[in-house]
Amino acid sequence: MITLGFMSLSRQHEEDYAAELAKRAPDFGIRFVRFTPFDISPDTLRVKALAHHPSSGKWNETEINIPDFIYDRCFYGKDSHSHKAKPIVEWLKKYPKTEFLGFGLPDKWAVLNDLQQNPLINPYIPETIQITKYEQIYSFLLKEKTCILKPAFGSGGRGVILLELGKKSITATYHIGKNKQTKSFSNQVSFKTWCKKVLQHRYILQPYLNIQDKERYPRDIRILMQKNESGSWETVGKAVRRGYQNGLLANLSGGSDALKFDTWFQEIPKKQQVILLDDVFSITQSVPYFLDEQYGPLFELGLDICLAKDGRIWLLDINSKPGRKSILKVSPEQKEQLCTSPFKRCLGIHSSREQKGALPHES
Ligand SMILES: Nc1ncnc2c1ncn2[C@@H]1O[C@H](COP(=O)(O)OP(=O)(O)O)[C@@H](O)[C@H]1O
Ligand SMILES: [Mg+2]
Repeated sequence: MITLGFMSLSRQHEEDYAAELAKRAPDFGIRFVRFTPFDISPDTLRVKALAHHPSSGKWNETEINIPDFIYDRCFYGKDSHSHKAKPIVEWLKKYPKTEFLGFGLPDKWAVLNDLQQNPLINPYIPETIQITKYEQIYSFLLKEKTCILKPAFGSGGRGVILLELGKKSITATYHIGKNKQTKSFSNQVSFKTWCKKVLQHRYILQPYLNIQDKERYPRDIRILMQKNESGSWETVGKAVRRGYQNGLLANLSGGSDALKFDTWFQEIPKKQQVILLDDVFSITQSVPYFLDEQYGPLFELGLDICLAKDGRIWLLDINSKPGRKSILKVSPEQKEQLCTSPFKRCLGIHSSREQKGALPHES
């Protein structure tokens, strides 16, 4: 029996998702466990994992070899826990007796910069630059009057800042949880001091795209793509995320709502519908394949796409460990598919490996 290990930085992370997966594992003849990188003993390479007990719903301690397949759901932060886990995971990626369903992507700058170099994808990527100096921010602002700063290692909208150059001051707008905060700088010196503090972390800069709808709710489209059993990419879910009225962020960690893609789609002008479908098709047919080649193998991707006020379609963000919250909220009937796809992929990799092994060796 093959083993699939759900790996996260804590044993509680995505508890519901892990339990839903665990319930379905026997249908695929797969043994399912969860573990953290710290559960691997460096001496024996044995893993103190948790196995799900179906009738009690409890997770029981078990000791196993490193699983045959790993579903990596580690989300790194700036904490020491994350720092310690990273080298273990990098080591695991190279360990010959296990296979990751998908490798993660590097930071936003690396990914967006690569996508910018691809002529088919470049038209959908907002101009993105890596910021190392205050002067870069100021000269961009002088030219464009508005811009977005976001952390190269950010997620969930954390650390996203809108900068606006007014006649008498510069304002910085960002969210702390639900609350939108604004800071005003009446002179360049105070703005420079603040920017220097921000730039202690790695940041990227993009033009500010107006993604607010008619009622001034910021919106974006989350597209969840996964590789199926035979390794082809499929769009498995779409949802439109809506942030707070007059807010900056459309994503759920900023506390937003999710709407059915089709309902929203029917409300936009016919002309825009055609362009949107065409552009979404181009993006979904190119981005996963390109990233797979650059950084793969990948298993799933969450693409954040937005329709700006001027009618243009942009790819704002790409997540290699996407959440399922917004998709499940609008399409609960997709739960079964989403909770079985990791097993199907696992079996797909397993059988293609066996087929390869069965081929006669070249002489
Ligand atoms: N260039 C931009 N213009 C306007 N809004 C943006 C821009 N970039 C990001 N946002 C807003 O910030 C949110 C979070 O940004 P994103 O790039 O998806 O980073 P993450 O989700 O990793 O924090 C987006 O969902 C969108 O609402
Ligand atoms: Mg995002």
